[in-house]
Amino acid sequence: MGKKAKVATVIDLRSDTVTRPSPAMREAMARAEVGDDVFGEDPTVNLLQEEVAAIVGKEAALFVSSGTMGNQLAIATQTRPGDEVIASEGAHPIWFEGGAGPALSGVQFQSIGRGGVFTADDVEAAIQPSVYWSPRTSLVCVENTHNRAGGRIFPQSDVLAIAERAKARGLALHLDGARIWNASVATKKSVAELAAPFDTVSVCFSKGLGAPIGSAFCGPRKLVEAARRFRKQWGGAVRQSGILAAAARYALAHNRERLAEDHANAKLLATLLSKARGVTVDLDRVETNIVNVDLDARAEDVVARARANGVAINATAAKRLRAVTHLDVSRADVERAAEVLARAAGGA
Ligand SMILES: Cc1ncc(COP(=O)(O)O)c(C=O)c1O
Repeated sequence: MGKKAKVATVIDLRSDTVTRPSPAMREAMARAEVGDDVFGEDPTVNLLQEEVAAIVGKEAALFVSSGTMGNQLAIATQTRPGDEVIASEGAHPIWFEGGAGPALSGVQFQSIGRGGVFTADDVEAAIQPSVYWSPRTSLVCVENTHNRAGGRIFPQSDVLAIAERAKARGLALHLDGARIWNASVATKKSVAELAAPFDTVSVCFSKGLGAPIGSAFCGPRKLVEAARRFRKQWGGAVRQSGILAAAARYALAHNRERLAEDHANAKLLATLLSKARGVTVDLDRVETNIVNVDLDARAEDVVARARANGVAINATAAKRLRAVTHLDVSRADVERAAEVLARAAGGA
């Protein structure tokens, strides 16, 4: 009695969104200079937007609440109701944005390719004929890295060919770059180089970079201004958001290069798990910070056994788990998690 209950530490591999702001990030938030961003008067938001536009290599950027809003702004500003949007198999806006594309912008999707990637010829084959009874194809979305495909990097040679084809066919091209930071660190190509072929780009600060909230929609000034209006209509224009922008600025300055550690940890986890009974991992597919783990056992049973032993992980299919490394998971955590998961997957 009177003693504090001991809280069991959980190694949380469910997502790179589970990180909590570090004391230094909180300090930066507390010190942020703020103003009313609806009037465009928040100096920290304005600074962040300039910095992000420069990093991504676009004319302008708009600070928004989430990656979902960033993607939906790309759709809203570059399509009309009744249009069709081409995206990868498993693309985030198709699977995980609550049906916002059809709901907010009146578009439908066509998914193409395999394992999160596709080619210029896949795009060509998917373009609807220009007859009035077919939907009008207007936008192509690339996801780099690809979440559902296990952090896969979209080959830049394909991006360049897709961009050329999209331009020739009058289609806009959007990059869902929620984890473009990971792709950049892994390929040693700058974010601006990876983003250059795209008209618009959304990036997230709240995944591997460790900020509590925030994304940016980047592109030509005209589209960013159009997006500002949608953001307001959707209730996403907020006031002293410099407190949040300060966290994003801190994340950009301090947490980008270290993503290489997350990639090494993901590779280590995959390697250790690939030796376990009842587990299959495609090591070549572990390109960044996400590991898809295929099981002989039922995923929900393995999740429950792992949780009981201090490891949180998500099932993404009946016999598949997804593990994500991030800045709150150390190498030692990964070694411990691999042991727990191996035992859980083997039925112990
Ligand atoms: C590839 C990708 N795009 C977009 C998003 C959406 O981000 P948010 O959860 O901030 O809406 C996510 C979230 O995990 C994602 O993985």
